[in-house]
Amino acid sequence: MDLISRIDQAVREAVSLGQTSPAPAKLAAALEYATTPGGARIRPTILLSVALACGDDRPKVSNAAAAALELMHCASLVHDDLPCFDDADVRRGKPSVHRAFSEPLAVLAGDSLIMMAFEILARAAREDAMRSAALVLTLARQSGMPGGICAGQGWESEANIDMRAYHRSKTGALFVAATQMGAIAAGQDPEPWAELGDRIGEAFQVADDLRDAMLDEATLGKPAGQDDRHGRPNAVAELGLEGATARYHDILSGAIASIPSCPGEAMLAQMVNMQARRVTPAPTASRA
Ligand code: IPE
Ligand code: IPE
Ligand code: MG
Ligand code: MG
Repeated sequence: MDLISRIDQAVREAVSLGQTSPAPAKLAAALEYATTPGGARIRPTILLSVALACGDDRPKVSNAAAAALELMHCASLVHDDLPCFDDADVRRGKPSVHRAFSEPLAVLAGDSLIMMAFEILARAAREDAMRSAALVLTLARQSGMPGGICAGQGWESEANIDMRAYHRSKTGALFVAATQMGAIAAGQDPEPWAELGDRIGEAFQVADDLRDAMLDEATLGKPAGQDDRHGRPNAVAELGLEGATARYHDILSGAIASIPSCPGEAMLAQMVNMQARRVTPAPTASRA
């Protein structure tokens, strides 16, 4: 089974747990709407690639980790689009959850997906209790305060933003979770894998800034030019298009060089390169 099918199946199974009757029908539908069809599924793809590179000896634990990470990411997007954050009407080429359902249902869908992520990891204790506990800890640390997604969103309410801390927690944290959870799921020490996640996250943020500045809403599947509109610090404003592109390639080479030695090292380098090509905006699609 290819990685995307493996991820989609794990996400579908997780979501269906929350739809067991009797369940409030609209909220049950919102859970599915927020997770299917997915976006690029880049975080769980990295997670499973690291697990495979480390031997993937407990595939059910890796599947649970991949689903949990993607659910957390989807939850963060549902909340991020709400009027009190970015007030975005479109996500993944369709109306955002609060536009398609309602604000209360979007808040609840995000909350439910977060709970579901941890439930899936706790259930994986049946396969391996130690790995399950380590996965819960890692996902919690990379999602909450002081260094997870919540912190990242929290920086936007500060008068003075620490740009590095902002990007690290808003975007980088779930990439660190991806590499570390992949290692944990395969029974490896997560520490050596933090640097790779951190560097991929930094590269991804610069690529996202470039896409936000260069592409239109139809290509992005979400509103374009958001960084400028919200006055957010971003790599294009700081370095210009060429500078940001050069920076992107620099960070990426560093990411590949930082892959810890493991049986699947070469395959992993190839995967990082492939994902990097996918997220780089094509000059032909430029609106700049
Ligand atoms: C969007 O992430 C949020 C950012 C951190 C920039 P993705 O671009 O991975 O979103 P999907 O999952 O593919 O829609
Ligand atoms: C969203 O960040 C990342 C989260 C932590 C939720 P952005 O607001 O920059 O990303 P998009 O452009 O809405 O995907
Ligand atoms: Mg935002
Ligand atoms: Mg946003």
